[in-house]
Amino acid sequence: MSEVQAAQIQVSEIQELIEWLASFGGTKEGGVTRLLYSKEWVQAQTALKEKMEDNGFQAYFDQVGNLYGRIEGKEETDRFILTGSHIDTVIQGGKYDGAYGILASFLAVKRLVENFGKPKKTIEVVALCEEEGSRFPLAYWGSRNIMGEYSPMTIEGMVDTEGVFFKQAMTEAGFPYPDYQTKKREDIEHFVELHIEQGGILEKGQLDLGLVSHIVGQKRFTITLNGESNHAGTTPMQERKDALVCAANAISELTAIAKADYPSLRITTGQIIAKPNVPNVIAGNVKFTLDIRHHEADVLEEFCERAIQQLHQLANSNGIGIDVDLWTDIRPVPLDTKLHEKMQNKLEEKELKHTTMVSGAGHDAQVFGHYLPTTMLFVPSKDGISHSPLEFTDSSQLEIGVSVLMEYLYELAY
Ligand code: HGY
Ligand code: MN
Ligand code: MN
Repeated sequence: MSEVQAAQIQVSEIQELIEWLASFGGTKEGGVTRLLYSKEWVQAQTALKEKMEDNGFQAYFDQVGNLYGRIEGKEETDRFILTGSHIDTVIQGGKYDGAYGILASFLAVKRLVENFGKPKKTIEVVALCEEEGSRFPLAYWGSRNIMGEYSPMTIEGMVDTEGVFFKQAMTEAGFPYPDYQTKKREDIEHFVELHIEQGGILEKGQLDLGLVSHIVGQKRFTITLNGESNHAGTTPMQERKDALVCAANAISELTAIAKADYPSLRITTGQIIAKPNVPNVIAGNVKFTLDIRHHEADVLEEFCERAIQQLHQLANSNGIGIDVDLWTDIRPVPLDTKLHEKMQNKLEEKELKHTTMVSGAGHDAQVFGHYLPTTMLFVPSKDGISHSPLEFTDSSQLEIGVSVLMEYLYELAY
């Protein structure tokens, strides 16, 4: 077979795997919805485990549903290199967010073993059970369990938007809640995550790869406003306790403050639920989310304090009750400089066009990065789109990521 044909097969291999995994939770709009412990999530993790086993990996789940594919090292087995990403998606997400990191790691390690036999040092490929925070009000369930940050108390009483209890969903997916207790893994030496950029910097710069130096910190809140439901026609404007108008004012005021005083801060309201949610009734109760991010911890802290003060002022001046629930709070993290250099040399050696960048998206790498040396590498996203059925990365760019990861893991483990 000619070089070109071999290259062709390689390039299509990663794309075929992306399409295969996207079939678990695929939507008619061409996106993917694969929420933690859902039917699609169980199917995907089960199929991935089979694929790992069919390709010589020792595959196993931990107690919360993180899936590991292990290639035992010839010399070192007590500690290992972990590489992978998350299997869950947002609602109507894309085919690449999370999935690419898992499949690229699987392919890179499979090819290393095919070409060079077993590594000296053990490598594990991981499909982290949950990162997005799209079903339950908590995020990084997979990586933060591995690092011992969560406990059974974390999910006590927690329900999704359909009222399904976390514990019930976990048990029904095959991970019995009563067996669950916190256990921090101490045997991970490095974590490497390949991911799509989810932004437009690489594409605009016509670059192949982004070497991540920092990942932003983020805080996610659910704000509950309790006003008074009343008749839309008979209630004078001055006598209303309209929770939806108060939410609208709050969202626009906080956005204006961010734009005026915090140029690199990001604030998003992605979810708002008004009750009773009918056209001719003033909304008495509103819940909305705030997703706030910055790469400097003190700036993030300062803005959030200011925002909460503003929210209380606004609610009180309208006689509306307010509750502020902070349910994700993850610090910004600088990634490992030594590994960064190693990766940088690799990219220069291969004359790949790359840049160093801050990640505006949150990632599991920022959980591991607080505890152990961690590297993150981006491949371009077409038109910078992500968390959408339009998410796309060209096969040849996906393959560049796989081949760099292969060489990087070779250096670390062979
Ligand atoms: O929301 C994020 O930044 C990531 O995609 N979970
Ligand atoms: Mn992701
Ligand atoms: Mn995501």
